[in-house]
Amino acid sequence: MTEKYDAMLDQMVKDYSLVTHGYSGEAPANPYPMFEYRRSQCPVMHGDLLQESRVPSMADYMMTGRPVVTLYRYDDIHSVLMNPNDWLSHIVADGFGAAVDNLLLTAMDGEEHKKYRKTLQKPFMRGQIRKLMDTLIRPVVVNEFVEQLRPKGRADLLREFALPFPIRAMYAYFGFPHDEDLLGNLASWAIQVVAAPQTDPEVAKVTIPKSMVAGQSMLETLMPIVQEYRARGEMRNDILGYMMTTEHEGDSFSDEEIANFIRMLLLAAGETTTRSFANMIVQLLENPQVMEEVRQDRSLVPKAVTETMRRDPTAGAVARIAARDMEIGGVIIPEGTAVLCSIASANRDPEVYENPDRLWLKRPMRPLLSFGFGPHMCMGMHMAMTEMEVALEEILQLPNLRLDPDYRKPEIRGLNMRGPDALHVIWDTD
Ligand code: HEM
Repeated sequence: MTEKYDAMLDQMVKDYSLVTHGYSGEAPANPYPMFEYRRSQCPVMHGDLLQESRVPSMADYMMTGRPVVTLYRYDDIHSVLMNPNDWLSHIVADGFGAAVDNLLLTAMDGEEHKKYRKTLQKPFMRGQIRKLMDTLIRPVVVNEFVEQLRPKGRADLLREFALPFPIRAMYAYFGFPHDEDLLGNLASWAIQVVAAPQTDPEVAKVTIPKSMVAGQSMLETLMPIVQEYRARGEMRNDILGYMMTTEHEGDSFSDEEIANFIRMLLLAAGETTTRSFANMIVQLLENPQVMEEVRQDRSLVPKAVTETMRRDPTAGAVARIAARDMEIGGVIIPEGTAVLCSIASANRDPEVYENPDRLWLKRPMRPLLSFGFGPHMCMGMHMAMTEMEVALEEILQLPNLRLDPDYRKPEIRGLNMRGPDALHVIWDTD
């Protein structure tokens, strides 16, 4: 490992920890007992679950004092997410939209969202991504990471694997040149943009201008990559190639539009997979019988991904705003009120999941909310799930993988962007 690569990992860990810290606020590391209580006592609650724990909330990122209602039940959240005409998404851009010229698919509504989504989602459809499983994703995971780790016998899997591998895989699919500086810079800037909203105004004074600079640096770095790709004239089967050859409403995308879209995708594509993968490994290591089941039967790997994402999702909440006066569970929600949908709570709703706290791979699945649901459901979910499946399969090739007894047990924390601070593991080397 080069010194430069080491420094890049250090920077990524630092940025990642800042986000975890910001989204942990004053909340208990294990918020599930609190969710259980609220789901049964006040499933449609006046107030903002995140802000009350001093965690930035997409229901009111800029803390304007907008009225907020928090939803805790699966069915209520499912119905909000399925109904985009009554529940709008534009508020999601309040926090860091400005840093990316407000070009965020997740914050678009109505026809605008439909049109862009239709064009952009094609290279992320399941069939397309499954083709990459063994041609692009597995070679990155095995050759660049697992085989490098194997002789060492121990690692902080968060630093050495979970942080860099999704970015490497994703950047290869974008069609970017393989360059450590580029990878490290873009990944850090992406995290700095996401870290803009803060509940402490003094901290926000630093993070908001930093996010603006980061957003601009991303664009300035992406533009020449896009221009060089086009100038080469060789359209490959990757995202850049797709965006240069596709049409949107009868026109092709300009280089600037492509750079803008790639920037938007970069915000969504890295850390979420890192955290979901790390949360999966922590849960499996804490439940050795379940880990053993997966070791014995690799066909359970996709279930391990979805069940761990259900039980402890990284995206703990999403938000919408009422387009007109609405009512949920007998509570009137006036137009202009934001709803904060606690996905983490919905995922353990006993009305929907039997014995919801248990990590149970053979449980009958219901539509998973951990990637959101409805028209805004995560566009990169097949990429993320395929990356996580390959990563789990390959990490299980490290014999007798277990927690490193020399370190504190990893703890998943945060009310949103949940994840552990580190993931120290050991395995047998002979
Ligand atoms: C395990 C990893 C991931 C998780 C947990 C996750 C989670 C989510 C969630 C919860 C939403 C819905 C937000 C809402 O409804 O307000 C979303 C949307 C989105 N995600 Fe992901 N995501 C992951 C990976 C990715 C990747 C790898 C990409 C990029 C390729 C991506 C791109 C997007 C985009 C573009 C949207 C907006 C979709 C729309 O509004 O139509 N995500 N994601």
